[in-house]
Amino acid sequence: MPELENCSGFTYLQETAYNRETIKSFTRPAIAEVDTFKTYPDAEKIQLPRNWHLTEARITPLLQSRRSLRRFLMEPITMEELAFLLWATQGITAKAGKYSFRTAPSGGALYPVETYFSANLVEDLEPGLYHFDVEHFALNRISAQDSAESVAAACMNQKFMAESAVTFLWTAVYRRCMSKYGNRGMRYILLDSGHICQNLLLAAEAIGCGGCPVAAFYDDEVNALLQIDSDEEAIIYSAAIGKKEKKASRCTL
Ligand SMILES: Cc1cc2nc3c(=O)[nH]c(=O)nc-3n(C[C@H](O)[C@H](O)[C@H](O)COP(=O)(O)O)c2cc1C
Repeated sequence: MPELENCSGFTYLQETAYNRETIKSFTRPAIAEVDTFKTYPDAEKIQLPRNWHLTEARITPLLQSRRSLRRFLMEPITMEELAFLLWATQGITAKAGKYSFRTAPSGGALYPVETYFSANLVEDLEPGLYHFDVEHFALNRISAQDSAESVAAACMNQKFMAESAVTFLWTAVYRRCMSKYGNRGMRYILLDSGHICQNLLLAAEAIGCGGCPVAAFYDDEVNALLQIDSDEEAIIYSAAIGKKEKKASRCTL
């Protein structure tokens, strides 16, 4: 598979992968910090209104209350809720010719991101690792072993990931996008995964769940759990989701 190996987009992802050895020698890069907020001290300032009438839009409370959640109720989510969350990430919503468009946008409608998940606490679903078959809106069970702890361990031992009801794991099938866009395709892959994750977080919010996106993981370990050929497909992003306590958001506008 020499053509991928020669792509800087591909080698970039491989060179920035974490594993238990390389993480030990990780030091902060010698790159000076900058402020979080960009300022234009000399520019004319126009204050935006806050009393907008758009708050009736059903998306508004979801955007307002979404917060990364790392403590979940030990309550299962239902299969219906799981199906809704999966649909929100990558469900097919329209067809046109050879294209099947999905809930999240994708550069060139190439959909290079695959969705897997560790079912930890889902009613009527055995714990284990599953792959989401987008085309048939079905699940492929890829491991019957309880994967809550192994996934959390592979995600740098972030304990909350073992306490989630479900942990989503997104991989990139490089070739799907890079065969068309070359190195630039890697940008699209990463952008696609952001759209997918945000869809999930907002959908979770809509059904009384919460979650946390996670990009700190040992790439090789997650890839091994998913039994994927990391020269062709590799983990890029993940998110832990679970039921949340019913209380007001910590901070409001
Ligand atoms: C790309 C990305 C990677 C992240 N990785 C982790 C992670 O590995 N562990 C974790 O606890 N939170 C992770 N987070 C969550 C951030 O810490 C969180 O989004 C940030 O503190 C802002 O808080 P909020 O999500 O509640 O608005 C990640 C978020 C993003 C967008």
